[in-house]
Amino acid sequence: MKPRKMLVTSALPYANGAIHLGHMLEAIQTDIWVRLQKLRGHDCVYVCADDAHGTAIMLSAEKKGITPEQLVDAINAEHQRDYHDFHIRFDNFYSTHSEENRLLSEQIYQALDRNGHINRRSIKQLFDPEKQLFLADRYIKGTCPKCKTEDQYGDNCEACGSTYSPSDLINPRSTISGAIPIEKQSEHFFFALPQFRDMLRTWTRSGTLQEAVANKLSEWLDDELQEWDISRDAPYFGFEIPGAPGKYFYVWVDAPIGYMASFKNFCDRTDYNFADYWSPGADTELYHFIGKDIVNFHTLFWPAMLTSAGLRTPTAVYVHGFLTVDGTKMSKSRGTFINARTYLQYLNPEYLRYYLAAKLGAGIDDLDMNLEDFAQRVNSDLVGKVVNIASRCASFISKGFNGRLAAELDNPELLAEMQNAAGEIAEYFEQREYSKAIRLVMALADRANQYINDKQPWVIAKTDPQSLQLQQICSTGLNAFRLLLCYLKPVLPEMTAQAETFLNIQPLLWNDIDSLLLDHTINNFKPLLTRVETDKVQAMIDTTKAEFAAQQEMIPAAATDQPKAAVNNPVIEPEIEFADFAKIDLRVARILNAEHVEGADKLLRLTLDLGADPAGVPRTRTVFSGIKSAYEPAALIGKLTVIVANLQPRKMKFGMSEGMVLAAGPGGKEIWLLEPHHGTQPGMRIT
Ligand code: 2FM
Ligand code: ZN
Repeated sequence: MKPRKMLVTSALPYANGAIHLGHMLEAIQTDIWVRLQKLRGHDCVYVCADDAHGTAIMLSAEKKGITPEQLVDAINAEHQRDYHDFHIRFDNFYSTHSEENRLLSEQIYQALDRNGHINRRSIKQLFDPEKQLFLADRYIKGTCPKCKTEDQYGDNCEACGSTYSPSDLINPRSTISGAIPIEKQSEHFFFALPQFRDMLRTWTRSGTLQEAVANKLSEWLDDELQEWDISRDAPYFGFEIPGAPGKYFYVWVDAPIGYMASFKNFCDRTDYNFADYWSPGADTELYHFIGKDIVNFHTLFWPAMLTSAGLRTPTAVYVHGFLTVDGTKMSKSRGTFINARTYLQYLNPEYLRYYLAAKLGAGIDDLDMNLEDFAQRVNSDLVGKVVNIASRCASFISKGFNGRLAAELDNPELLAEMQNAAGEIAEYFEQREYSKAIRLVMALADRANQYINDKQPWVIAKTDPQSLQLQQICSTGLNAFRLLLCYLKPVLPEMTAQAETFLNIQPLLWNDIDSLLLDHTINNFKPLLTRVETDKVQAMIDTTKAEFAAQQEMIPAAATDQPKAAVNNPVIEPEIEFADFAKIDLRVARILNAEHVEGADKLLRLTLDLGADPAGVPRTRTVFSGIKSAYEPAALIGKLTVIVANLQPRKMKFGMSEGMVLAAGPGGKEIWLLEPHHGTQPGMRIT
């Protein structure tokens, strides 16, 4: 079989938020597919990047008091860690805010312009006179012109469902500054999408898309296609359009070009040739994995832009549905909007990889993660079926035969049956019908377990622990285990790596299914996977809830700073001058009293002793602290802690907070108040 040359992408996550399990669904789906291709000997490159541009990221950086570049760099490192820890192995993870992307975006735009596919015209938009920026619809709120419900977004009303233009809103306000928006004209650049209708009709029906997606697109293509507005006015975090000072590419222009840029960056440090993958007629394959919310960008604008620029179009765009948890949309308040990092605090990433694989099909239906089913499925399939085979056979081989597998097997027919399934399983993976592949693998695991049940090696071991029959039965079992692992390797890379060490073999490739392990010495068995503990699942939900509650409650009336203790925030803050640090007056304080606050889910009210002032008058402070999930008030009384003593008093929902105590930890029960050495005294300055 001739190795295929493939380039695969997952959608680029925005660089202003954490990776959550919704992102992970897509990354895991793609990673399994890429791993399968690599294991089968294909030359498959997997790239991704952060989607770094746009107004949201610009405003988010501004709020944090850092530059957008600082924000996207910090987030990039965090995203890479999250993906890595779920065993997602990109060949390159880059950023759309890169020189490669700037150059490619400029070149593609210039080609579009040369080919007569860019039109310029002036349009009227709402403008924030205070912030001096044009407002996208989501940054405008007001009263619905139809049903008069207040506080509705600029383009549709959540109460009555009507859609309208933001200029129709009654009493409109900019959500950024609160100012009343004004209407203002400015010139915009448009991509002539309607000119690509015929090309798109052919492309969308040429096997590139799932049927459901192609059908949806047919509806759009039969409707009148609109020109696509590809420019945004300054201030905007992005790339300036060449020859158009103050005009920037809309983030969705340079985002897909970011796939190319990430690959370009990869080519520049490897032997891969960029043109081989992007020239028209290339014998390479290009695949994009995306969610169903961004279909139009990838199947209309993107192929049209590529065609205009004289580049190749994708071989296929694979669309998946959304992740729901316990039957509903992921929700912050219910604790089901789970960040990747929060999951990792409690659970093994391979549980999720397996569970999603066991449920993923090639369609665009949503996938529900039912938390009970999750634990049950992983425990019964992986621990109860697959690992169980090894643990039932390994010790007899170690004890009775010094780790040596038999030269002949007790039941080669069983193994042949398992080997014969390879083609079907590979095809299911290839077609992204992972659930079907897993079902087949688990049916084989059932067969292997049934075989061991029938042969009862433990009975033979009692009377004859060194009999050839025992060795051949257990060797058959361990070979069955090895074949199952080979099939599961794209899904469970870490568990497979451990099993390879146990079996004392080179890393498995798909073709290794054709061979068996005979007359071979294995290592001692160590447990490969522990059961999912349901209290850990609950703790993950509780922490997610606590993170959300902390964000809600701790936002004081007029500020947005949050206690870092209760928020799982791996981003390291930007550097500050020593002089800035010296302004912070950190003091030892003793907790005189601690009590619950009525109506607060998260806060405790602390009364703190800061020692006496220079005149000998005792100083006390009241501080609200988001540590309720971790402490019983009574346990705090008498403890020493650290307070930021010169923080401006802040009016919070439940009263004035006169300082802030320091704590650390991911949240939930795991928040620890900092406790200075007991030799220190209230009022001592921490230097
Ligand atoms: O929807 C999103 O999260 C986008 N950041 C996806 C971009 S994918 C690609 F086009 F860059
Ligand atoms: Zn309404």
